[in-house]
Amino acid sequence: MNISRQVVLAVTGASGACYAQRFLERTAALDGVAVHLLMTDTAREVWRHELGDGPVEGRFTLLDNRRFDSPFCSGSAAADVMVVLPCSMGTLARIATGTADDAVARIADVQLKERRPLILVPRETPLNLIHLRNMTTLAQAGAVIAPAAPGFYTRPDSLDTLVDTFVARILQLAGIAPLEDSYRWNR
Ligand SMILES: Cc1cc2nc3c(=O)[nH]c(=O)nc-3n(C[C@H](O)[C@H](O)[C@H](O)COP(=O)(O)O)c2cc1C
Repeated sequence: MNISRQVVLAVTGASGACYAQRFLERTAALDGVAVHLLMTDTAREVWRHELGDGPVEGRFTLLDNRRFDSPFCSGSAAADVMVVLPCSMGTLARIATGTADDAVARIADVQLKERRPLILVPRETPLNLIHLRNMTTLAQAGAVIAPAAPGFYTRPDSLDTLVDTFVARILQLAGIAPLEDSYRWNR
């Protein structure tokens, strides 16, 4: 029997579609990982603006954000991990207040209630008090808040390397792939 880790990747309307694109490319190359992609309407707009067409069909299944019939919408079949990459302040607020009004918010809600990993990658600057309070609420509820803030200590020589460095760290946090030594401090 083939056992796959069930990964939900939610892409929302914050800047940083390149991170999600790289996440899909990296996970497509991994065995034993099944990626289920969710996109908000605004995520599609931002993706077109930042990257053009896509995401291209690949090794992921596309879920409908307006429907609640995917297994991951129920605690009885929760995902092994959910990553919201990038996470808009709007989606952050919806998850923090438990609206569960689209599949992204509902699956995040399920991850928290089932004590399953939920990794949020917010992107906004500067942050207002509402953003900060929502992040605190979510951290207290068990989410990992991993701001889209790549490090420069590996001296990335291109934008691609910078994006790759950050996505590698998210994959490590999500328990999907170990971090390459070249991306570790002092290794
Ligand atoms: C080009 C573009 C870039 C945006 N960047 C951000 C951002 O970095 N962070 C953010 O919180 N919202 C950003 N927004 C605004 C969100 O897309 C907007 O608040 C939207 O309602 C979020 O919807 P969603 O959470 O359902 O994806 C951006 C919008 C556009 C059109």
